[in-house]
Amino acid sequence: MRATRGVVLAGGSGSRLHPLTKTTNKHLLPVGDVPMVYHPVRRLVEASILDVLVVTGVHHVGAIVNQLGSGEEFGCRFTYRVQERAGGIAEALGLAEDFARGGPIAVVLGDNVFDAPLRPHLEDWERSGKRAMILLKEVPDPERFGVARFENGQIVEVVEKPAQPPSPHAVTGIYFYESDVFGIVGGLRPSARGELEISEVNTAYIRAGAMHVGQLPGWWTDAGTHESYRRANLLVKQP
Ligand code: G1P
Repeated sequence: MRATRGVVLAGGSGSRLHPLTKTTNKHLLPVGDVPMVYHPVRRLVEASILDVLVVTGVHHVGAIVNQLGSGEEFGCRFTYRVQERAGGIAEALGLAEDFARGGPIAVVLGDNVFDAPLRPHLEDWERSGKRAMILLKEVPDPERFGVARFENGQIVEVVEKPAQPPSPHAVTGIYFYESDVFGIVGGLRPSARGELEISEVNTAYIRAGAMHVGQLPGWWTDAGTHESYRRANLLVKQP
């Protein structure tokens, strides 16, 4: 497998989890018996992705570094970058350009909790020869996510938090990109909510015919709202 470095995006204001996130970074809240962010980090390490960049916001970088440390506890090596303000997932991803050193990266959102190993998907991506890959999951509440829209069975775009979801297929916060992603991020303009949207990055790859699409097996949830945070805590307790 080509050498792939990992990026965990653990910024944002966590406003949907107030007041739990008033003084704590969302990603440090407990999910099961460990902080939330341990779950995506462990999935990367299990896939032999041992060089991991953690991007977090300026307010909680101290706590994040205190918690995660060098990576010794996980068997990996952490690098840290600070996102000055909550400018969106794609903006945070842009901070990974130097870290990627022109190679492919596996990106996981720090609030995504799931039980499927990543390695089979990385291998699938490599076989596909495509420049990017997303993993979809059918959910009952797609309006909360980036949602895949299909025409004649082919994905044509990802729509961010649509009021009328065009399908039940949410785009999970697990993304694989070649380093041309940084050029795409550089060309983005802020959305109506003032953020650089990862869904626009993914739509650019789809329109270029360069996106491989997989399905994430097992269970998956984000943990960014009170309801999904509770669900994450229930799911990790499953045998
Ligand atoms: C973000 C992305 C969205 C994606 C989701 C997965 O949403 O913008 O496209 O489906 O993560 O967790 P947010 O967590 O910012 O609501």
